[in-house]
Amino acid sequence: MLKFKSRTSAFSFNSLDMRSSFQLLLIILFLAISPKSQAQEKALAPENDLCLKCHTHQTFTFHNNLTKKEDKRMMNPLYILDKNHFATGVHAKFKCTDCHSADYTTYPHNAELKLEPLSTCLDCHGGDAKYAAYQFEKIDEEFQKSVHFQKSGESFTCSKCHNQHYYQAKSRTSSEVGDIVSFSNDMCMSCHSNNTKFQLINDTLKPALATIHEWLPNQELHFKKVRCIECHTQVVDSLSVSHNILPKEKALKNCVECHSKNSMLEASLYKYKNIQSRSEQGKLNSIISNKSYVIGAYQNVWLNNLSILIFVLTMIGICIHLIARIIKK
Ligand code: HEC
Ligand code: HEC
Ligand code: HEC
Ligand code: HEC
Ligand code: HEC
Ligand code: HEC
Ligand code: HEC
Repeated sequence: MLKFKSRTSAFSFNSLDMRSSFQLLLIILFLAISPKSQAQEKALAPENDLCLKCHTHQTFTFHNNLTKKEDKRMMNPLYILDKNHFATGVHAKFKCTDCHSADYTTYPHNAELKLEPLSTCLDCHGGDAKYAAYQFEKIDEEFQKSVHFQKSGESFTCSKCHNQHYYQAKSRTSSEVGDIVSFSNDMCMSCHSNNTKFQLINDTLKPALATIHEWLPNQELHFKKVRCIECHTQVVDSLSVSHNILPKEKALKNCVECHSKNSMLEASLYKYKNIQSRSEQGKLNSIISNKSYVIGAYQNVWLNNLSILIFVLTMIGICIHLIARIIKK
């Protein structure tokens, strides 16, 4: 920041562009302190254009060999992909045909392709030292104890929650609690608020979430501020995200578990805070973004005030400098 004050600076503060320079400074300062939340979009493999031409639109056209004409058809909504969403996922660099059969390059697709077995997370990530930090094997172990696997078996795969097209390791990469919570809860809601998807797995009638959680005051706020897994899994210290969804009788109902000084959220949802402060660039972000979310738990008020104080002092310094320059002219 001090660089802007020096005479050799690329920005000159003469009276004409002073206002815009000042605005620019404000913007730069704002960008410097605002937490990075958007995952970066990567460039997609050009080969994917062929697939995306059809798989991102509500309609598609193809050459009908029988009628020898171009035919326009509606695309099944389940088969429409979100290209931008794909570009922010962990597998954005992939070609579609890295995971799907190369036979998909022709349309109409061969009907037998439907039965093609697709790789699971463990097929690619299991036993790979490069991904050891995620502990895929341990997650798999925990997942197999969960109600989903116990009741539905192999048909409940990891991909039922983690869409391989869009997956992001949000709980590590995002610096905003709200962002982490909505990403995580959307996974659960994709079935628990969607009868069609739920009944593909279990044909019993799905109870409405709002009714089940009637005992919880400010339900909407809770669902925005805490993850479903906070109440529905047992925290495993060695895992960043516990995967053992417990039977409903064991779900957390005790308000004090969270609404207390030693909130269990410290060990689960806010665990990311520790990850964040270990990574260099996260330091400032974690301090700023944690402030308002911690309920009766640790809060670094002193650091918060310090950062505001530094900001104010910097602004005063810049103003004095500008005024001094105007007077000198
Ligand atoms: C001309 C349009 C078109 C192109 C190009 C196209 N698809 Fe499809 N795809 C479809 C349609 C329509 C369906 C729906 C099922 C069907 O009609 O076969 C589909 C279905 C699929 C399915 C789901 C199959 C199932 O039922 O489970 C996959 C996976 C798929 N496509 C992958 C690809 C890939 C990968 C590419 C590129 C290599 C590609 N598609 C190119 C139109 C297309
Ligand atoms: C990292 C692996 C991976 C990549 C890369 C990938 N897919 Fe998929 N795709 C899958 C898996 C796994 C499923 C099955 C999901 C399920 O039902 O459990 C799937 C399902 C689909 C479906 C069926 C609808 C659905 O969402 O279940 C379509 C259509 C599809 N993929 C198209 C594509 C296209 C087009 C691309 C390239 C832009 C692509 N896929 C890239 C793994 C991948
Ligand atoms: C076909 C093999 C394949 C499958 C299936 C697959 N992945 Fe990946 N995944 C990869 C590769 C390769 C990378 C590295 C991509 C890169 O470097 O851009 C990766 C990257 C990742 C990353 C980022 C790792 C990092 O630190 O950068 C995560 C997290 C991840 N995958 C999770 C999953 C999950 C969860 C599943 C199952 C839902 C899954 N993957 C399925 C091959 C796969
Ligand atoms: C019932 C839904 C569900 C199922 C099934 C599921 N997960 Fe997860 N998983 C989650 C949620 C929720 C998170 C936390 C949000 C996030 O960061 O992705 C998560 C996080 C992760 C992470 C990131 C952990 C980290 O340290 O950053 C990995 C890796 C992962 N899951 C792998 C798997 C694998 C492998 C399977 C299958 C054996 C699986 N998951 C099955 C819901 C699920
Ligand atoms: C504050 C803790 C808490 C949160 C947050 C929470 N739940 Fe629950 N949930 C419970 C408790 C406790 C029960 C058992 C209620 C009972 O038996 O009366 C339950 C029951 C359930 C059931 C069992 C329904 C049945 O009766 O078969 C499902 C499914 C469920 N929750 C899903 C979710 C999903 C999805 C989310 C996230 C959107 C979520 N829960 C968030 C505490 C919570
Ligand atoms: C692919 C759909 C799907 C997703 C995604 C999903 N669930 Fe479920 N869930 C089910 C089904 C189906 C059942 C009924 C049991 C069964 O057949 O597996 C169930 C049952 C439950 C139960 C009740 C267990 C009991 O004792 O009756 C809870 C609690 C629950 N899920 C929580 C979650 C949470 C938390 C998430 C997100 C991390 C989640 N579910 C994601 C489909 C899903
Ligand atoms: C899994 C942890 C968790 C559990 C269990 C939990 N809460 Fe909360 N509660 C939160 C969080 C996080 C917030 C949001 C705090 C914020 O950011 O304003 C919240 C907010 C609230 C609020 C709103 C406070 C406000 O500032 O408006 C009330 C009231 C509340 N909870 C009551 C309860 C009661 C009563 C129970 C037990 C039946 C309960 N909570 C259980 C985590 C929890």
